[in-house]
Amino acid sequence: MATPTIAKVMALVLVCATAEGNSSLNGVCMEKERRALLSFKKGLTDPSNRLSSWSDQGDCCQWAGVHCDNITHHVVELHLGNPYDSGDIEFYKMFKLGGKISPSLLELEYLTSLDLSYNDFGATTIPSFFGSMASLKCLNLSAATFAGEVPHQLGQLSRLRYLDLGYFGSLFAENLSWISGLHSLEYLDMTRVDLSKEVQWLQAVSKLPSLSTLHLSSCQLDNMHPSDNFVNFTFLRVLDLSDNLFSHEIPIWMSNLSTSLLYLDLSGNSLQGPIPSTLSVHRKLSSLILSTNRLTGQIPDWLGQLRQLKHLILQDNSFYGPIPRTLGNLSSLELLDLEDNKLNGNLPKNLGLLSHLEALFIGYNSVGGIVSEVNFAKLSNLKVLSLSSTSLILNVSSNWIPPFELEYISMSSCKIGPKFPVWLQTQASIKLLDISQSGISDTAPDWFWDLASGIQLVELSGNQIDGDISETLLNSSVVSISSNRFKGQLPHLSRNVRVLSAGNNTFSGILSSFLCRKLNRMNNLEVLDISNNLLSGELSECWMYWQSLTHINLGNNLLSGKIATSIGSLAKLESLHLQKNRFIGDVPSSLGNCRSLGLIDLGENNFTGVIPSWIGGSTSLLVLRLRSNSFAGNIPKSFCQLSSLIVLDLALNNLSGTIPICLNELSAMAQTPTPDDVHFEALEYDYNYGYYEENLVLVIKGRESEYKRILKLIKVIDLSTNNLSGMIPTEITSLLGLRYLYLSNNQLVGNIPENIGNMVSLESLDLSRNHLSGKLPDGMSRLTFLAQLNLSYNFFSGRIPLGTQLQSFGAPSYIGNANLRGAPLSNSCTTVVPKPVGKGGDESKPLWFYSGMAPGFAVGFCGVCGVLFFKRDWRHAYFQFLCDMKDRIYVAIMLKVNWFCQKIKSSNNAQLKASERDLS
Ligand SMILES: *[C@@H]1O[C@H](CO)[C@@H](O)[C@H](O)[C@H]1NC(C)=O
Ligand SMILES: *[C@@H]1O[C@H](CO)[C@@H](O)[C@H](O)[C@H]1NC(C)=O
Ligand SMILES: *[C@@H]1O[C@H](CO)[C@@H](O)[C@H](O)[C@H]1NC(C)=O
Ligand SMILES: *[C@@H]1O[C@H](CO)[C@@H](O)[C@H](O)[C@H]1NC(C)=O
Ligand SMILES: *[C@@H]1O[C@H](CO)[C@@H](O)[C@H](O)[C@H]1NC(C)=O
Ligand SMILES: *[C@@H]1O[C@H](CO)[C@@H](O)[C@H](O)[C@H]1NC(C)=O
Ligand SMILES: *[C@@H]1O[C@H](CO)[C@@H](O)[C@H](O)[C@H]1NC(C)=O
Repeated sequence: MATPTIAKVMALVLVCATAEGNSSLNGVCMEKERRALLSFKKGLTDPSNRLSSWSDQGDCCQWAGVHCDNITHHVVELHLGNPYDSGDIEFYKMFKLGGKISPSLLELEYLTSLDLSYNDFGATTIPSFFGSMASLKCLNLSAATFAGEVPHQLGQLSRLRYLDLGYFGSLFAENLSWISGLHSLEYLDMTRVDLSKEVQWLQAVSKLPSLSTLHLSSCQLDNMHPSDNFVNFTFLRVLDLSDNLFSHEIPIWMSNLSTSLLYLDLSGNSLQGPIPSTLSVHRKLSSLILSTNRLTGQIPDWLGQLRQLKHLILQDNSFYGPIPRTLGNLSSLELLDLEDNKLNGNLPKNLGLLSHLEALFIGYNSVGGIVSEVNFAKLSNLKVLSLSSTSLILNVSSNWIPPFELEYISMSSCKIGPKFPVWLQTQASIKLLDISQSGISDTAPDWFWDLASGIQLVELSGNQIDGDISETLLNSSVVSISSNRFKGQLPHLSRNVRVLSAGNNTFSGILSSFLCRKLNRMNNLEVLDISNNLLSGELSECWMYWQSLTHINLGNNLLSGKIATSIGSLAKLESLHLQKNRFIGDVPSSLGNCRSLGLIDLGENNFTGVIPSWIGGSTSLLVLRLRSNSFAGNIPKSFCQLSSLIVLDLALNNLSGTIPICLNELSAMAQTPTPDDVHFEALEYDYNYGYYEENLVLVIKGRESEYKRILKLIKVIDLSTNNLSGMIPTEITSLLGLRYLYLSNNQLVGNIPENIGNMVSLESLDLSRNHLSGKLPDGMSRLTFLAQLNLSYNFFSGRIPLGTQLQSFGAPSYIGNANLRGAPLSNSCTTVVPKPVGKGGDESKPLWFYSGMAPGFAVGFCGVCGVLFFKRDWRHAYFQFLCDMKDRIYVAIMLKVNWFCQKIKSSNNAQLKASERDLS
């Protein structure tokens, strides 16, 4: 083979693109081929009638998708790919062909190109007769939903140059030895084809003499080491092995690749060790993508020699040490992503010379020091700046005019203050601004609110920004100004605002003047969090103007009066916080109209009356907190219909009667783990680039704390400090998922249910100060997660069952039971049983709680998503992971995913075109 020609690289760019142009001038197609096409059409389903031009009459060379040779009139190309991919789901569905592929295609002897991409052949196998279409140069079955084994007959297509089998479908190949028959193959895409059984994949593909593009992403490959230790990819330009299961070091053969390698993507594996210096031979490399691995060591200086680099993506590894100054030599660099490593030291000044740089991601590292004008001197193309969660200190003069015009600014937890950053005034194109927790202690200037009205997401929380914004009109879709020092009345909202998070400020005034304000009547607000302020007055009758609201938090203000009945007009309401105010009266029955309620927190008010039984009809209710009010009467039986309930807190009321025996019907608490059909949407609200999450104050293990993202894991029943009587219903022991059960301070009588040992999830149990009696069931010693127990001040008798479990609690757990004996009570004659190791203690969490949690990620990413994360379907898991990981880093990653995917798509072609110039 000769050295690659420009034509070859060109071909790479064009892939097997449609042969535009005059397929047939005045020619008439071959009768045999016309019949073959008609019989092919017969087998297909075509919901949008794309093939309507394929009729009994007429020149088949004029039919949609058919191209004939302009001299011989033979059909040479069939372009039947769905023009819409699944990003456009409605059109995709409408335009997808399906059905059966007729072997009549074999009559098209001169067919060089067959494109069936993005159709839906319903998990049938790829027809093996494709292997007999000897003229084929291009076969595109990308995302055509084939399943089963890739037929080895394809290996007979010795003229094939492009083979695309990527994306959906569930194809697999046990053996790729057939691929060596594809002598002419230049382009191979088997993304998401399961190759886990094929251990010799590397030998197989490296035998292809002309291969220049190889996509084997998400193929469940786990070993990159060739058995004969030698790999010869002479013409490889593009190598994509992302999202596989490699967990070894980057192999030596990577340096034996053609030195014309342009694109190397090994992201989303578990690769270990340092970046080998041998990779430095790839001087033409334009994209180096090693993100989301376990690579370590320092970022090598020699990267600065890869002068053609445009994309350097090392995010989410364990690189340490300083950011090499040599990166400042990469004058073509457009994207530098070093985020989420362990880098330290300063930001090298010469990165400020990278005049083509469009995106700089440095966040989630330990880099520090002062960043000033020089660090940005030549960055005139910068659009994305992400420095969040570093110790960088931004120190620029107040009249700095930056050379860039940023679109995404993520500088949470850097030090920007104490003065409000004046340079923002020069940035007219911002879409996202996150300067939360950045030490700003200043008044937000008036110009800022003008600027902000053009920004989609404004995140200022956790500073000490003050100012009266009563007359400001907010216009961003998300405004988060919580935990600052804003004062005065609440601001005006335009129709664009969907999230207003303004909690923990000193806003004051009458709530209804905000809710009833004329300007605010046309709002589309979905999330209103104005908790922890100084708002007063009653809940107005103006709720009908706020029909889009799904999440309301008015907790911890000075609100009073009764709940307005108009709140029942909020049909989409999913969560309602009114806790810690001065509300009185009944819960209005109109609230029962809010059919989507998932969370009701009326705690710590002065509500009276009975608990309304309509609540039982709210089958989506996850959290009901009525704690610390003056509710009286019985616990309604209808409560047992709350099949999604995970938090029931009725403590500190005047409830009487018995505990309903049907509690076993609370199915979300009965199951462990939580059943799939429980929806947690009420507890979180996602928007582009972020999320709003519910929080709830719960008293767990005697301690009041705020639960946010782990709320969905809490399963608690707290009925303590009421006047409940009767027995503890045996049925309660079927609540196998219940973690906390508090029944103290009531008038309960009888025994502890014999089966209590079944409640394997119980971590904390408080039955103190009742009139319970009898022996402690032996099964209690099976409660291995139990970390806290209080049975004090009852009438229990007999011996405390033996076993490490129950003895590990101190005597205070049992005191006040005159007839109870045995360790750990001192009236025992047995010796002290030592505390079990590694258990107990307030902070202990069950093991599954942390399982699957990637190091460094926030508490609360766990359980369900943890399992997903380790499933073999890596890409899916990764995105699931992004979505489930409710953390700041999510903002950064989402930002990147969106921006970056777009970027890579558009630049893939550009970069190849550029190299084509280089070669000429
Ligand atoms: C196959 O079709 C898809 C969808 O139209 C396209 O993105 C891809 O580049 C094509 N592959 C080849 C090798 O032409
Ligand atoms: C097709 O042929 C017509 C004349 O027959 C010509 O005007 C037109 O430019 C041609 N189109 C292409 C794409 O070659
Ligand atoms: C026939 O098609 C070839 C390319 O397929 C093109 O180069 C040639 O100009 C065309 N001839 C006519 C007469 O259109
Ligand atoms: C792969 O298939 C070929 C023929 O189809 C066979 O000779 C070879 O032994 C197979 N290899 C493995 C590893 O199964
Ligand atoms: C690599 O493959 C090419 C083309 O098949 C061949 O010309 C070359 O000699 C091989 N290199 C080695 C070191 O085997
Ligand atoms: C409320 O805001 C102040 C800063 O203004 C902060 O120090 C405090 O931690 C915040 N409290 C909560 C509960 O977020
Ligand atoms: C509830 O009402 C009582 C008197 O009825 C009053 O003493 C108490 O302060 C009120 N509590 C709250 C939280 O408003």
